[in-house]
Parts: sequence; structure tokens; C-alpha cells
Amino acid sequence: MIFIRHFSVLIIITCQLSSFSQSFTDDKIDSLISIMTLEEKIGQLTLFTSDWATTGPTIRENYLEDIRSGRAGNIFNAHTAAYNRSLQKVAIEESRLGIPLLFGYDVIHGYKTIFPIPLGEAATWDLELIERAARIAAEEATAGGLHWTFAPMVDIARDPRWGRIAEGAGEDVYLGSLIAAARVRGFQGNDLTKNNTLLACAKHFAAYGAAQAGRDYHTVDISKRTLWETYLPPFKACVDAGAMTFMTSFNELDGIPASAHRYLLEEILRDTWKFEGFVVSDYTSINEMVPHGYAANNKDAGRLAINAGLDMDMQGAVYYDYLEDLLAEGEVSIQTIDLSVKRILQAKNKLGLFDDPYRYSDEQREKEVVLSSANKELAREIARNSMVLLKNQNSVLPLQDSDQIALIGPLADSPIDMLGSWHAAGQANQTTSVLHAFNQAGKKVAYAQGCTIEGTDTSGFSEAIEKGETADKIIMVVGEHFNMSGEAASRSQIRIPDIQQLLIKRLSELNKPIILVLISGRPLCLNWELQIADAIIEAWQPGTMAGPAILDVLSGDHNPSGKLPVTFPRNEGQIPIFYNVKNTGRPMQPDNKYSSKYLDVANDPLFPFGYGLSYTTFSYANMSVDKTEISDQEDLNFSVTLTNSGSVAGHEIVQLYMRDPVASVTRPVKELKRFEKVFLQPSESKEVKFSLSTEELKFYNSDLQWVFEPGEFRFGIGPDSDVELTLNVVLK
Ligand code: NOJ
Repeated sequence: MIFIRHFSVLIIITCQLSSFSQSFTDDKIDSLISIMTLEEKIGQLTLFTSDWATTGPTIRENYLEDIRSGRAGNIFNAHTAAYNRSLQKVAIEESRLGIPLLFGYDVIHGYKTIFPIPLGEAATWDLELIERAARIAAEEATAGGLHWTFAPMVDIARDPRWGRIAEGAGEDVYLGSLIAAARVRGFQGNDLTKNNTLLACAKHFAAYGAAQAGRDYHTVDISKRTLWETYLPPFKACVDAGAMTFMTSFNELDGIPASAHRYLLEEILRDTWKFEGFVVSDYTSINEMVPHGYAANNKDAGRLAINAGLDMDMQGAVYYDYLEDLLAEGEVSIQTIDLSVKRILQAKNKLGLFDDPYRYSDEQREKEVVLSSANKELAREIARNSMVLLKNQNSVLPLQDSDQIALIGPLADSPIDMLGSWHAAGQANQTTSVLHAFNQAGKKVAYAQGCTIEGTDTSGFSEAIEKGETADKIIMVVGEHFNMSGEAASRSQIRIPDIQQLLIKRLSELNKPIILVLISGRPLCLNWELQIADAIIEAWQPGTMAGPAILDVLSGDHNPSGKLPVTFPRNEGQIPIFYNVKNTGRPMQPDNKYSSKYLDVANDPLFPFGYGLSYTTFSYANMSVDKTEISDQEDLNFSVTLTNSGSVAGHEIVQLYMRDPVASVTRPVKELKRFEKVFLQPSESKEVKFSLSTEELKFYNSDLQWVFEPGEFRFGIGPDSDVELTLNVVLK
């Protein structure tokens, strides 16, 4: 058996299999491991990028050689059915054992059909839509030869300076955990052996969102309580939803880089949560333990990482270069290496790759599925549901047919900026801008770019002003370019760039209604704009169907219903600012100097978590709970009558919040506990009901045990996190 070249042959010889897919078991994986050389084993623990080039996917010659020699068992960034098939062919036909490659890629919010950035998707509060978007992303990506997505990113983010806030579900633990699970379900489906399901990867484990000062890759120093209460729950939700892989984060946590954090990887993830998949490092995060000051050199970093339970090395070539020596020196055991190899082979097996390594490389399916009109329709649907109406003075929106419109701004016709920083294989030329959407719909607008996104050139202002002068309403599409958020894109000032602010100011001097459509990957400070603009829509980075979705909202074909998944500060000095803060011993009192506040800005945000307007209005009445006292094992049943008190149909996202006012460990002033998206015709009412078990009243006590304590609890139901908590219940 020593010279067996093709794995299929091996299986037949060793296992006498008649059908690989039915019978490839753990035992067979063990037999395979038993005949692998050390070099081949290390190859399975190695992930290299394919070096996508502008003219198409290419792979450095030595990586092809690495695939041939079994030294690179996994590749990322390579995609398309044809190209990945060609790489797989090298692995299957030219390597000694023919073990299939695993192809990964950052399919974060779509493959070619790009959905809104995850922060935007979260603003829908619509778990079904979010799951469907992930499902479509998986269908397209698998048709493009991929097996594994580096998503969902489930880092709770409470600092909008941090560019990667764009990639997650925002600030809330409860909403974030539900969305995390929905996205895992969407990517992985319910049967990984199907050729349209992807391995999901919960990232970045853990607490990456707590980077000091919002600067990417920066130190994280939080309490264990904050880790367990705030940062871990979405990861746990991913494990419970069956996520097959995890990615470590770049940051250190309590002095230990996440890629060598045994407490995270072994004690929490594997021992406590019973995770059975494999863990990959982030890009060169093993090597980065050297500048972190945790490892003396790359070899030392490799020793620390593999012994802490990190199975696969992304791009760092540390395992590739040093595992053999570490084993020879007794610094790593062969059992440790074999265990990691086994986890990775099991994942390949779950995908059915041993059955048919080419099952994801079907060019016909790729043609049919990728960018199909049904997929684009879903992208439009989720994009328009993600938009949050922040202001609408005098009902300036929706537009009237008779309105003469001036469409101004550097983002009105900039398709690439609609896609966000992680747009996978999404392309600008497949993306519809706002201007294009107006033209397609046959709606006349006077368009001028006015200025670039950043810079100082005001030469386009006069044309913009001229167009504005002849209009009834001025729509300005303004904000950030696609690379101003995402990885390595933190900003200390999160405002609309100066040149655009100047353009807004000039146009506002025309005294026409100004409607701002914001394109951004994060909350922006909009204090000044809020005074000047008549209407503001936060459109995030809406994806392939940005233009039509924005037009749907502007025209009223879609009544906006998005709610903020993250707080919008008044200025950067308030950051971090989020709704479920603690009360302090000196809660803010306007007339008491010695209370917790600023001298120069209010404590409250510009827009709270959960906030968002509609073209209709909703009223809340008869809020009630069925018990004023409960004991363990009892449920609380809440109800509220929601009425559409305006004149158009619309969705409202009804939110239930709780506070535990006295506990052995102080609790936040509010915690989101339930929500429901409700559709009502004008004048229609509905009784919205929520039920909570005592499980939902629990928290981590000072010993980090998950407990509830007798006493009073307060609840409130309303349209956002500003709701008053007026219902009291006592837990006996
Ligand atoms: C680094 C990023 O932090 C991570 O999210 C991503 O998946 C990898 N690069 C691969 O592109």
C-alpha cells in the first residue's frame, strides 16, 4: 500500500467499499491517517491563498507543487467551477494519496449576487430573510467551486470606529446570536453532503470586536464576565446551529493571543460547548504572536498554537515550516497532529468530497445559479428591508410622481461602493447604482456628482447647484467609499467626509428639501446633517441591487421598516456607546454636576439601538403581562396591541426589553429579550404576544454560574430601546 497513488484506490483496497458516500466512516479516516506521511499530515493542516490576480485566478507555481506533494491540503481565494476543478485535479491525480482539497473563500454577504453588508442585513431584524440570503450565497459559492465560507462574522461590535463593525450584526447579544445561528443554517443547510451547502466558519474567536479605541487588530482587555455575557453568546449560538469550523481572532485576550488561547479553544469551545469541527487561524495570526510578544519566533508560535488546539494554519506557513522539527524535538506529539488532521478530514468527508471531489465544480450549475434573476430579486428584497429611515420631516418622503428631482453626490452613481469591503466575487459592472435605477425606471432626474468621496476639489459644485436650483427635491447620496470600513479600516472620526459636508451645505442654501441617502459601513455621527436634512435614510452598503432597492424606498413602493442594530452616537467622544449599559452609582441628573455625564454632549445617542421610522405611524396600547409573581418553571406571557395609525401599510419591529434592577451582580439598564416583525394595513390592529421563561431571567453571577435570583424584574414593549419599562414582575 505504500505506493498507492489515488485515494479512491486506497479506499477500495483497504475498505472494500462499494459506495464511498455511505460507508466512509471515522475508522476509514483513521486508516487513511495511518498511511499518511508526516509531510502529508502537515499539508492537511495548511491553508494557502491562491493569489487571485487581476486577470484571473492564478496560483504560485510552488503552491501547485505543494498540492502535488500533499504539502498544501487546502486553498482559499481560488474560485469558479473551472479553476477549482483544475486545482482539484492536481490534488486527486497527481498527489500520492489523492486527498481532495478544501476550497475556502470570504463569502461574507454573497458570492456574486451581493446582499447588503451584514450590519445592513441585521437592520432587517428578519431572521428568515437573513437565512435565505446566506442560503443563496451558499448556492452560488458552491456552484463556483467552493466548499467553505469564512462567515458568519459574529463579533459583537460596540465601537463604530472599528471598520469591521460592517461585517457583523451590531451591538446586541440577543439579536446577534439569533442572526449568527440563522446565517450558519443558511450556509450549511440541513445536509452538508448536498452540493449546494458550504461549511460555515464562526469568526473571529474571540472578542475581536472589543479592540481598544476601535483600532483594528488592537489589544483586547475585558473581564471574564464581559467575555461570557457579551462576546461569547453568538459563538455558542453558532456551535448549537452546527457550525463546522471556527476561526481565531488576531487580538490577544487577557495577555494571550487568541490563536494560542487554550482556555478559548479547548476549555470553552471543545470541553464546554462540545464543538467537534476544526479551528483555523486567521491570516498569519500564528506568526503574529511574535510581534505580540508571546512567542520568541515563528517556530515557537507554531508550538504554542498547535498545542492550544488550533488545527489549521491560514497562510502563515508556520506548521508547514516547523511542525516536523517540533515533533522531532518532542515539543508536539503525533497524537496532537493526528487529531487535527482527523478533524479536517472529517469535514471534507462530511461535504462528500471523498465521494466525489469535483461535485462542487459544475459549470452548468454555475451558469444557471450565479446572479440568477431570483437571486437578484432576493438581494433587492433584503436591501430594501435593511434601510432605516432616520428622519422624515413634513413627510418629504416618499417622492411624489410630480416631483422634479435632482440627484447629487459622489455615491449616486458609484456601483463598487454599493458592495462593501468584502464583496467576494461581486462586481461593479453587475451592480445597479441609484442613478441607473432611476434611468431604468424611466424616472427623470437631473444628476450631478458634485465631488468625489474624499478630497478637496470643489469644481463640480456649480453643476450640482445648477441641477439643484431647478428641482423640487434634492436627493444626495453621500457617505463612505467601500474601503472606509471593513478590515484595517478604522476611523477616528466617523463623519461624512468634509468635502461632501461642504457640498450638502451649499445645496442646503438653495432652501429646497434635502433628502440624504447614506451609504456607510458603520454608524456615522450625523448631528449636523440632522439639522440640515429634511429626510435621512441609512442605506448601508446595499449590494448588487442597491439602486432599485433605494428607489423602492424613496418612491414608497417599499415602506421602510429597518431598525438600527447599533447605536448612532452624537459625536466620537461618546464612544463606546450602546443601549445596554450599566446604571453607575451616580446616574445622570441634568442639574447635578456630580452625576455621570459629559460637560459638552448629552449622554444619550443621536439614534438609539432599535430605532427606525416608517412612512406610516404605529401606536402601542394595552401593554400587559399575565402574572405579577412567578416561580421557577413558569412562563411570563406579554401582550401589546399594535395599531397602524397612519395611512399606508407597513411593518413594525416590536421589541421587548427587560431590566433586573437589583442583583448580586449589577445588570444592564436594558436587555433586548424578544422582537417580532409585524405587518399591518392602515387602521389595522394586532395583539402582539411574547412569552419568556425564567431561563431568560438568568445571568452569570460572581462565580460565573448561570443563575436567576429572586426579586423584581421590569419589562417594556415598544418601537426601540428608548422604551420605558413599566411592567413589574416578582420572581419568588
Ligand atoms: C483576514 C480576516 O480577518 C478574516 O476575516 C478573513 O476571513 C481572512 N483574512 C481571509 O481572507
